[in-house]
Amino acid sequence: MNLDFSQIVPSIPFILKGIWVTLQIVSVSLIFGFILGTILSLFKIGKITILRWFADAYTSVFRGTPLILQLFLIYFATPQITGLDITAYTAAVLTFGLNSAAYVSEIIRAGILAVDKGQKEAAEALGVPYRPMLLNIILPQAIKNILPALMNEFITLTKESAIISTIGVLDIMRRAQIVTAERYIAFEPLMFAALIYYILVMTLTLLGRLLERRLRRSD
Ligand code: ARG
Repeated sequence: MNLDFSQIVPSIPFILKGIWVTLQIVSVSLIFGFILGTILSLFKIGKITILRWFADAYTSVFRGTPLILQLFLIYFATPQITGLDITAYTAAVLTFGLNSAAYVSEIIRAGILAVDKGQKEAAEALGVPYRPMLLNIILPQAIKNILPALMNEFITLTKESAIISTIGVLDIMRRAQIVTAERYIAFEPLMFAALIYYILVMTLTLLGRLLERRLRRSD
């Protein structure tokens, strides 16, 4: 075995630049997925059958097929169908946002159902209309309870984002592969990429804990 980490030293800045690319794609997808997921969860608990049906079918499809397949469909098939060119970056954000929404909608639905029934009853007794009740009373409590699950989703997205390397986005993973190809070494760049992902996930975990503690303060 001949491991030589000094060989990748000149490529370290190149790989590190991928952090920004990865973080950017993951956070935009997360926000997009969260907004869409919230809307879908409201459809799921609502009374309108067609919307409920749509939201359930949505989750079923996006959870029932591999993420990498969805990515390829959006990136390679969209131009064929619509004639529009889609950049790898847009395809990545779109796919991850749409996919994440399927999972987030289930997380939020569970969170809403877990809020004590008395909260709704009290709001109704006080004459609070449905929409403000949901937005100002039920949802804030639901979000607090599901924060760990949402952090999980954030972490999943961060790691799964490595598959965007397959459509040529210059994220951490892709950059590590490029260094491998340029220098004919695989272990060192991959280990370095692994370390970056690990540190990212640990940082997210820590931030999640801090946020959770902050939100519990009002209990
Ligand atoms: N590897 C899984 C798939 O291909 C990941 C799904 C993404 N998960 C998520 N929570 N957004 O389907």
